[in-house]
Amino acid sequence: MTQGARRSPGRRTVLGAAVLGSAALSLGPGGTAAQASTPADSRRRLPVPTVIAHRGASGYRPEHTLGSYQLALDMGADVIEQDLVPTKDGHLVCRHENDITGTTDVADHPEFAARKTTKTVDGTSLTGWFTEDFTLAELKTLRAKERIPGTRQENTVYDGRWTIPTFEEVLRWAEKEGRRRGRPVWLYVETKHPTYFRGLGLGLEEPLAKLLRRYGRHRADSATFLQSFEPSSMQRMAKLVSTPRVVLLWTPDDRPWDFREAGDPRTVADLITPEGLTWIASYAQGIGPLLDLVIPKGKDGKLGKPTTLVRDAHAKGLILHPYTLRNENTFLPADFRRGTDPAAYGDVFGAYEAYFATGIDGIFTDQPDTGLLAAADFRDR
Ligand code: G3P
Ligand code: CA
Repeated sequence: MTQGARRSPGRRTVLGAAVLGSAALSLGPGGTAAQASTPADSRRRLPVPTVIAHRGASGYRPEHTLGSYQLALDMGADVIEQDLVPTKDGHLVCRHENDITGTTDVADHPEFAARKTTKTVDGTSLTGWFTEDFTLAELKTLRAKERIPGTRQENTVYDGRWTIPTFEEVLRWAEKEGRRRGRPVWLYVETKHPTYFRGLGLGLEEPLAKLLRRYGRHRADSATFLQSFEPSSMQRMAKLVSTPRVVLLWTPDDRPWDFREAGDPRTVADLITPEGLTWIASYAQGIGPLLDLVIPKGKDGKLGKPTTLVRDAHAKGLILHPYTLRNENTFLPADFRRGTDPAAYGDVFGAYEAYFATGIDGIFTDQPDTGLLAAADFRDR
């Protein structure tokens, strides 16, 4: 692959669609510029830092709805994220988790009252309604609503406007929007609780691979990233399709659920060592770390000194797309909060600057319009 990064001094500004095979080349210190060779290549390149719309433009619309995805795309987000869980009849739908209690009106449906149950998902006991207990036809009778109305009251005006989208509907939407805009719509697709669902006979990876093939997103240069907190899910996807893969990483003491089930003692702290990163690079092209793994916070909640993770991951040819930066005080590091209202916006541009300065390749955000301005500021510096 010839695509790669066009470098301005000390910084990449463009990531190729083939990202990923060329990441090591483009990221190495002193690496030379690799240029896209065809118009199609250039249409598939991503700006760096890349702005990834987390669950769509979820700061402004109920998450994981076609309304949230459309707004993100209209705002100019570089990539739009979907989290996937299955229905009882094996369809993949876009929800952050299988528990749909907080993001749909299911509790207002008396016909489903008896479906309320308590189950243990990845070691956590949850009471509510779960996608795997509903057929797609049943799920489609529900309407999506805002997850955090206390923080995002304005978003509640859209409660009830959209249904739960299937992933196939999103693929069709992306295809249509891509044709209209003359460039592919990039997607960032996460398998949620893959070991748990496999145990129920609802493996996510095979139907996902089938859909990716059907819509031409199964190649190494497809405008798609795959992601999971469970490394084995990305290993499984690597056997099914060539779509670029990213391993998500939570707190240092976290042990991925598939590791627990398999008796693998490693934690995230092990995975971010040079050995751990080498292992990830054997089947994935990037990591999606919690922002705190890039810049930890002190006891006062303020940003501390950056870790070596960016340098270490880049040295292994891995790109980094940390998560999640949001405009509201309640989600910001203490040094970037403004005033005392947790729902008010803080100095998010200051926070972006601090994170971008570490050399990350992109970032997940609930407010892609803000992220795009911050990324443009950073590139123009
Ligand atoms: O996938 C990146 C980020 O979305 C991971 O966190 O919990 O929002 O899926 P989560
Ligand atoms: Ca996600």
